[in-house]
Amino acid sequence: MNNKMEKIISLAKQRGFVFQSSEIYGGLKSAYDYGPLGVELKRNIMNEWWKSMVYEREDIVGIDASIIMHPKVWNASGHLSGFSDPLVDCLISKERFRADKAPNLGINDEIIIKCSDKGQAKRYQKDINNIFGILLQRNGKYLEGLRVINNTTFGFFENRNDKALKTFNFNGYVSPTIGSPFLSEERQFNLMFRSQLGPVDSIGDIISFVEKNKDLNSKKLREGLEKIIKDTAVYLRPETAQAMFVQFLNCQQTMSMKIPFGIAQMGKSFRNEITTEHFIFRSCEFEQMEMEFFVEPGTQKKWLNYWRDKRLKWWKHYSNNPSKFIYRSHKKDELAHYADACYDIEYEYPWGFDELEGIASRTNYDLKKHSEYSGAKLSYFDPQKIDKKTGRNGLRYTPYVIEPAAGATRGLLVYLLDAYHEEIVKDAKGNDTLRRVMKLHPKLAPIKAAILPLVKKEGLPDITRKIVSNFTKSGINVKYDEQHAIGKRYRRHDEAGTPYCLTVDGKTKEDGSITIRDRNTMIQERIPADKALEIVKKKLNLF
Ligand code: GAP
Repeated sequence: MNNKMEKIISLAKQRGFVFQSSEIYGGLKSAYDYGPLGVELKRNIMNEWWKSMVYEREDIVGIDASIIMHPKVWNASGHLSGFSDPLVDCLISKERFRADKAPNLGINDEIIIKCSDKGQAKRYQKDINNIFGILLQRNGKYLEGLRVINNTTFGFFENRNDKALKTFNFNGYVSPTIGSPFLSEERQFNLMFRSQLGPVDSIGDIISFVEKNKDLNSKKLREGLEKIIKDTAVYLRPETAQAMFVQFLNCQQTMSMKIPFGIAQMGKSFRNEITTEHFIFRSCEFEQMEMEFFVEPGTQKKWLNYWRDKRLKWWKHYSNNPSKFIYRSHKKDELAHYADACYDIEYEYPWGFDELEGIASRTNYDLKKHSEYSGAKLSYFDPQKIDKKTGRNGLRYTPYVIEPAAGATRGLLVYLLDAYHEEIVKDAKGNDTLRRVMKLHPKLAPIKAAILPLVKKEGLPDITRKIVSNFTKSGINVKYDEQHAIGKRYRRHDEAGTPYCLTVDGKTKEDGSITIRDRNTMIQERIPADKALEIVKKKLNLF
């Protein structure tokens, strides 16, 4: 693990941002708990997102849908296909497809890998050489030199020689898009977490089915068991997005929304990720902040660029290093089946640039699919438009969708990385010491101010608690803290990302003043205690 990530993971645990889930039992792989500071940071990020997406806009409304939805939702969206069908990955293009729908090839058939252009052909030629040690011949956008030898083997025949230079296992088919024979084993993919709705346990039905069907082969047995399980099966949502498509009509009609308009939602999503990595970057349970923006067909490109720029600006606003946020356009072969264009907002993590948010132009795919599967007419009627086909006033169409889909927990990791700062400073004795400071944006900081009595006696705690009460009555999250020497408390709050420390000392009793210490500069000044709330609010821009 990279050094900066190690430091972040260690600080996150020490200060109460993120803990390993069920740590006392040895921890649960890829599951995390957000501690006393982490829960505040996560909520602050999500609240800022909600403010900018819902409160500050007339054209977006919010929803909070259930995590468990009707199983047909996942049929329509395509998420369920991986459950009952064996899927295969193309090891070159990463395309995932159903084995039973793939093109079959027979003995002696030539295998030509058909790329979308010359650039892709060059890339794949290089990848195949690196992974499999053979240099295929490139003919424009085609890669040649492979042939089926028998039902289970294909070979590389250099310069059309009769003898294969190298042979490989053959599945009997090639990938549908590029025709690659370099494939993974057939596997049942369970991306979604499956559960059961209703208290009746299906194990009883399973046992009697197995007892009655002892002679069935494993394929038939599996089909029978799947059928029993499917009757009561429900799934934890793998994205928050589908609820916005399913509730499109309800939201549009109840709030009289006119296109273009959006529906926003934030909350938990669950994926049985094949690889979980980089701490909370990719985990099985995470939180998303997604918005589906419904637009008139033909205007999607304009809105895609609009949301790309808007979202990039939003991430940069809370950052100390805005240049670490970029956007990247998806290449044609990276696009999801439902998208006609897509941008990723990327952040420069310690391992390099990687995804933080996707801004996809999802066409009308989802509304069409849900219309088809549910029978509901998920369309929009614009009385102001003229229907070119009939020449009459009023146009009905299925809206296109632009979707900014961000990770809230991934955003939390990004802002922890962004805020982490180390410097050497002098301690009280004049010795060099390391200061770790989390330079979190004040709007994101879990604690807005620490309010500290210099000592635990001489009436200072009572004066301090009165100031604390003033802040909390105004809804500002501040903390009273009297544990350890004052220098240690300052350091603790530097690591918590607390922007200000207010200290009540002997002078407070004389002239009613307290000190205010700035987290970033460590500069202290005296301010009147009775103006502390007003001053801190102004400094934090909380008015
Ligand atoms: N509705 C579209 C959708 O869900 P996605 O790119 O799969 O698109 C959107 O997810 C965002 O959710 C990602 O950019 C990422 O920030 C976050 N995300 C996705 N999978 C995640 C995981 N396993 N762990 C943490 N965050 C994840």
